[in-house]
Amino acid sequence: MKEKLENIFKEAQIAITQATTRHDILQLKSRFLGKKSDFSSMMKQLGSLPAEEKPAFGSDLNILKTRISELLEQQDEIIREADYQKAIGRNTLDLTMPGRKRERGSLHPITRTWQEIEDIFLAMGFEIAEGPDVEDEFHNFDALNTPQDHPARDLSDTFYINDDVLLRTQTSTVQVRVMQKHKPPIRIISPGSCYRNENDASHSPMFHQVEALVVDQGVNFADLRDILNVFVRKMFGERIDSRIRPHFFPFTEPSAEIDILCIKCFGKGCNLCKGNGWLEMGGAGMVDPNVFDLLGIDSEKYTGYAFGLGIERIAMTKYNIPDMRLLFENDIRFLKQFS
Ligand code: PHE
Repeated sequence: MKEKLENIFKEAQIAITQATTRHDILQLKSRFLGKKSDFSSMMKQLGSLPAEEKPAFGSDLNILKTRISELLEQQDEIIREADYQKAIGRNTLDLTMPGRKRERGSLHPITRTWQEIEDIFLAMGFEIAEGPDVEDEFHNFDALNTPQDHPARDLSDTFYINDDVLLRTQTSTVQVRVMQKHKPPIRIISPGSCYRNENDASHSPMFHQVEALVVDQGVNFADLRDILNVFVRKMFGERIDSRIRPHFFPFTEPSAEIDILCIKCFGKGCNLCKGNGWLEMGGAGMVDPNVFDLLGIDSEKYTGYAFGLGIERIAMTKYNIPDMRLLFENDIRFLKQFS
């Protein structure tokens, strides 16, 4: 009897380890353990055996059943794993899967405005000049005719790195650098970052300006007005005028502040211009002869104008952005509106 059981197990072992499908497994289960199997008929014989033989034979039969069941389970697991591996290998292209969405980026409104400004001035024959963000006092203040006790030099307005080195507070530093290097005629713009210790809805500690400098024989205030008008119309549209108001800057004489007609109410007064009808854009003036003298340009022969405009102000006006901080929070919902 024992031998017969062992033979059944060996036969089952060979058949089961050769199975390759789950269907094979079901068939083998019925062949070795099902109703018509040798195992089943022996279970039936168990009842007719003498009482003293029953326990041992019953136990042998149970062991056989367990061993065959274990083989079936192991092989089933192997087949399932193989099926799975085949499936993922085959399905590298699943046409029913949802597509992967590609996010489309867009230029930051400041970058867009910056590029537009450059395009306008390049078309009018200006060149682009650059200077460093980290500057010395000479280029940021001294050479710009700024007295030692001028409030702009104060620690509370300017980020100093050490006694002499600071983050530039204005792109006017580039005026100095250009005049140090080049003789007139000069016709440049210089867009770039500036830094001041201030932070609210209309001021950011880092912001951008575009500087312009034109030096030649016979350059006058009318030329300045003219170029500003052309720029403003190109930037904001034909209906938008600019105006200048008397002001003071240490490095220009006379000096002025530049306003543009409110692009929302066209001068009537609204919430954007706070009832003024005009929006402030920057500062301007005729280069102070003191600056020329200091930088070795003949102030008897040459005159020049300069202006500096806030790029944030221009972008906020153009795109109707109510708070400067929106420009630097990098909120994707805000930035997406400029794609
Ligand atoms: N640099 C000045 C400012 O930041 C603006 C300015 C530039 C004024 C050029 C006159 C000429 O306020």
